[in-house]
Amino acid sequence: MSVHKSLAHDSGPLHVTGQARYVDDIPTPTGTLHLAFGVSSVASARIQSVDLSAVQAAEGVVAVLTAEDLPFANDVSPSIHDEPLLATGEVHYLGQPIFLVVATSHLAARKAARLGQISYETREPILTVEAAMTANSRFEDGPRIWQSGDALGEFSSCPNRITGQLDVGGQEHFYLEGQASLAMPQENGDVLVHASTQHPTEIQHKVAEALGLPMHGVRVETRRMGGGFGGKESQGNALAVACAVVAIQTGKPCKMRYDRDDDMMITGKRHDIRVSYDVGFDDTGRVRAIEFKHYMRCGWAQDLSLPVADRAMLHADNAYDLPNIRIESHRLKTNHQSATAFRGFGGPQGMIGIERVMDHIAHKLGMDPLAVRRANYYDEADSLSEPTGSAAETSHQKLNKTPYGMKVTDFVLGRLTQELEASSDYHARRAAIADWNDSNPVLKRGISLTPVKFGISFTLTHLNQAGALVHVYQDGSVMLNHGGTEMGQGLFQKVAQVAASVFGIGVDQIKITATDTAKVPNTSATAASSGADLNGMAVRVACEKLRARIATHLAEKHSCEASAVEFSDGNVIAGSHRVSFAEAASAAYQARVSLSATGFYKTPDLQWDRIAGKGRPFYYFAYGGSVTEVVIDTLTGENRILRADILHDAGKSLNPVLDIGQIEGGYVQGAGWVTTEELVWDDTGNLRTHAPSTYKIPACSDRPDVFKVALFENENRENTIHRSKAVGEPPFMLGISALMAISDAISACGDVYPSIDGPATPERVLAAVNRVRNGV
Ligand code: MTE
Ligand code: MOS
Repeated sequence: MSVHKSLAHDSGPLHVTGQARYVDDIPTPTGTLHLAFGVSSVASARIQSVDLSAVQAAEGVVAVLTAEDLPFANDVSPSIHDEPLLATGEVHYLGQPIFLVVATSHLAARKAARLGQISYETREPILTVEAAMTANSRFEDGPRIWQSGDALGEFSSCPNRITGQLDVGGQEHFYLEGQASLAMPQENGDVLVHASTQHPTEIQHKVAEALGLPMHGVRVETRRMGGGFGGKESQGNALAVACAVVAIQTGKPCKMRYDRDDDMMITGKRHDIRVSYDVGFDDTGRVRAIEFKHYMRCGWAQDLSLPVADRAMLHADNAYDLPNIRIESHRLKTNHQSATAFRGFGGPQGMIGIERVMDHIAHKLGMDPLAVRRANYYDEADSLSEPTGSAAETSHQKLNKTPYGMKVTDFVLGRLTQELEASSDYHARRAAIADWNDSNPVLKRGISLTPVKFGISFTLTHLNQAGALVHVYQDGSVMLNHGGTEMGQGLFQKVAQVAASVFGIGVDQIKITATDTAKVPNTSATAASSGADLNGMAVRVACEKLRARIATHLAEKHSCEASAVEFSDGNVIAGSHRVSFAEAASAAYQARVSLSATGFYKTPDLQWDRIAGKGRPFYYFAYGGSVTEVVIDTLTGENRILRADILHDAGKSLNPVLDIGQIEGGYVQGAGWVTTEELVWDDTGNLRTHAPSTYKIPACSDRPDVFKVALFENENRENTIHRSKAVGEPPFMLGISALMAISDAISACGDVYPSIDGPATPERVLAAVNRVRNGV
């Protein structure tokens, strides 16, 4: 079997030798035109006049388009049609595209785009949470509120109570390959688009709308992305639509790629969040009642903000059984880039709130934060029938039901945490750190163990479907198509392993192809970590159909039972006859057996009411735990991660090395979110951190010196593809332990709770150290 094997990424050699082909590497015909947007220089205004004469006259410029020049729909929104490709009379953020330059080179287009003369009647932009709340500037009519039990009623009977607030910034995706699109006009008004996108079907849909074509007139192909991280679920629409429209108007191929600064100024990022909390708990640290308020700045257009904010609410419990809970979520409309999907899709923002609460309770009670976490854990899946150990002691009080009413039946964090405590030597190191801090006045160390429980499935239930198209050629080689996209996560390799396992052949006999809307229609974005779960199943279904046809043919030929025909080690064995898979394919072809099949899969057992906040939105949960140790310099606020120990549940892993890669990358990206990555907008709404000179993602040298990652043995209880679990997003949230460890280090400076916001930049660490030292 090819599954459960540690095979390297199929494109590894191409990646490292520079031969992997990205959109910008596709050879283009002479005459290809290049596009760039002219963007708004203010955050909120009515456009008074637009003078593009200098743009038109600039060297190499072929055409300049404004909203009036768009033939059909002027919309690139993935949701409610509130996002024009080119501004119409008003601008809503600094960086919003107003006009489109078409030129003979990329540089000429970019230079000319700077020459637009636009006069604005400016308005006061809405930039802060306070300003948005005061102006009631929001998506949806009011806050979304979900509750379970009676939090507000219970507070008065709780022996302890704390309140607090945590602000955590957004995050730039910083995919290494920026947004890019290439449109080739075809005969009869059709168009072929190569796009760096997680969602080819969405691009097809938006391009078709923009050109007034049926979807069959548009074909979208995506071989790979140089990273997406959620930033290519919807943010590629604008480039693809622009290229397609101009390609049809001029009859020439059109390409657009954002320069890094343009990419950061134009596209949406992770939503930042303010979480305020009010918590009642007993003397053991067990939460009795809790109220969260989430405030998310969503930017100017809705994009995916509602499901992102929903997912934040859905992860407000993380690993904890919270009996009485009320969550109020405000989705604020502000004059920023439209915040969008980013690894975890709101989950990290929700989860970090309850992790802060656990630490705060521990500080208040003078307990080890890990003891508070454990006291609040859901009950272990196994202990539901047979109670053992510490987690079970409080089980009689636990409903083991999420705030949205879903029973937690697969909880493993009790056992996982126990293994991680032992393997990371948590308790001894915690004691050693306390001693070390007592004798070191300047440098202080901190340690934290935080858990992750992440829900797997799209919360928009109909998206949980996938299709595949598999061909077996007469020489036994296999062409594999499915709706998922490759962005570095290794999806294509995993799915090829699934197909190879069905046919009993090696993955080298399988061609991994570009995602193509003409081969598999109506696909969902490769998102919500569901790529392998959904496409792996669809491919298995298709391959099993083909295997059954080949088996039936050989069984008839050799008079044996079709069910007894075996496919293994590159051979097909029917009765006493053994042939190679290639010979079997050839024989089936000669006998006129169809060797092409589709497969389809939909996730079972989901039902979800997002307005009521009740149901089973997730098929299962993925789990993990991380222990981070940090050191801070109390004179400068500088900080470093010294060591990270991770134990993560990828179910019965389809490919352990690829999964470990996802865990390492996810952790580092999550740690970057809470430590170095800071987005700074000035008070005019101008993003001042729009390049790597000012925006700091973790570099190789920032990874922990000691970095121990292991997979937790735990096959999926649900019937997923080979009992594996989704692994793309959950490890991101393991990075939360970096913030909690920094907070722990700051606590060594005095008695008050540090309440540090994220990201924990040196400035914030220093300010928190000083607050704690001064006892405020
Ligand atoms: N890993 C790499 N190398 N590059 C990426 O862009 N995106 C992440 C995650 N891991 C990403 C990645 C995000 S946001 C998601 S939703 C999943 O991969 C998507 O792929 P999957 O569903 O196949 O896990
Ligand atoms: Mo991932 S944020 O679901 O693309």
